[in-house]
Amino acid sequence: MSENDRVQKAMQHFGRLVSEQMERVERMKKDDSWTEYSSLRPVRIGVCWGDGIGKMISVHAERVLRHMLKDEVENGKVEFRTIQGLTIENRAAQKKAIPDDVLEEIKACHVILKGPTTTPQAGDEWPNIESANVAMRRELDLFANVRPVKVPSEGIDWCFFRENTEGAYVLGSRGLDVDDDISIDFKVITEQGAERIIRMAFEYARANGIKRVTAVTKANVVKSTDGRFSRAAARIAREYEKYGIEQDEWYIDIMTAKLLDPARRKDFRVMVLPNLYGDILTDEAAQIQGGVGTAGSANIGRRWAMFEAIHGSAPRMVKEGRDIYADPSSMIRASAMLLRHIGFPERADKLEMALEVCGQFERKLKITGRDTGATGEEFTTYLLDEINSGSLSSKWNEFTQK
Ligand code: IPM
Ligand code: MG
Repeated sequence: MSENDRVQKAMQHFGRLVSEQMERVERMKKDDSWTEYSSLRPVRIGVCWGDGIGKMISVHAERVLRHMLKDEVENGKVEFRTIQGLTIENRAAQKKAIPDDVLEEIKACHVILKGPTTTPQAGDEWPNIESANVAMRRELDLFANVRPVKVPSEGIDWCFFRENTEGAYVLGSRGLDVDDDISIDFKVITEQGAERIIRMAFEYARANGIKRVTAVTKANVVKSTDGRFSRAAARIAREYEKYGIEQDEWYIDIMTAKLLDPARRKDFRVMVLPNLYGDILTDEAAQIQGGVGTAGSANIGRRWAMFEAIHGSAPRMVKEGRDIYADPSSMIRASAMLLRHIGFPERADKLEMALEVCGQFERKLKITGRDTGATGEEFTTYLLDEINSGSLSSKWNEFTQK
């Protein structure tokens, strides 16, 4: 291909991406309503197992969730559905990030509890299809990836609001190999996309009496996209001054350092950030809480919401026969977020309390990811016993006053 042809091809490709984003912006401008869960009967919870350790930890999380919603399941207010087919084998066979029939089943539910799914990369054993996570977030427009991390004994109480439908991700499978020498990826941030996630972060701060929201960017270098995100944060912040909420901005590099600084880190409370930075920073944060196996995440959109672990499918654990030792806490934490989202905040609090007592404080059983520790099933039984015991809140008080 001549140089001119290659340039033309690249321009056409870029032109298509720009048109698609323009259409997306128009759709976002029209968005107005949110699902009202209290008016749904039944609220349908779809459970997707995923790959690797996914099935194992999903089953444990579903057991906990069913326990917390026992009455509602019995009286028909809540219904569970198992959604098969989001496996890497099926996705690879159909060469689709989410096969059509699976997507249909997902959309027929109101909320989804999803186990981790394997994301192929060029050169591995699978066709290089798009990540099921990224596809689901885009298809259901789950724009807010909310990831709380708490270490009560150290005063850490963070909530990350990661933008979930833009940034480097949404066009991550739409990059361009211009020729044998040049590859270009695209990153997009729109005014509407930035605004909706930033607003959610500020609303969370306001609702919880938090006085600071931190935007995390690299706007000094990535000037257009991060620059837009940064300006949107500053603009929206002005609306929240009257609630005494201040806004500041940190660059992603120094932010990753500050999360490790015991003297400063507990001062951060709410962080709002573009997609890729959010991906990276929340793994670091989760590690501080006890490992990625302890962290859950909510993917919230106006119509649907999906709840998942923040980590991947850990195929190595399965290969080594260690999947029964995988920590289900991440998915159980996601289940607590699901409970809160569909209108059961007290039960969500109780479940989170139990996770902290069992996972951080009492630790009668420890999960180590191998046979030196408890299995996921044993841990789940321990957790349910604590929930039923009646001494949960006194233990938690003891813990947090240490
Ligand atoms: C996450 C995961 C995903 C992501 C992968 C599986 C695509 O790391 O939820 O953080 O990068 O978003
Ligand atoms: Mg990640």
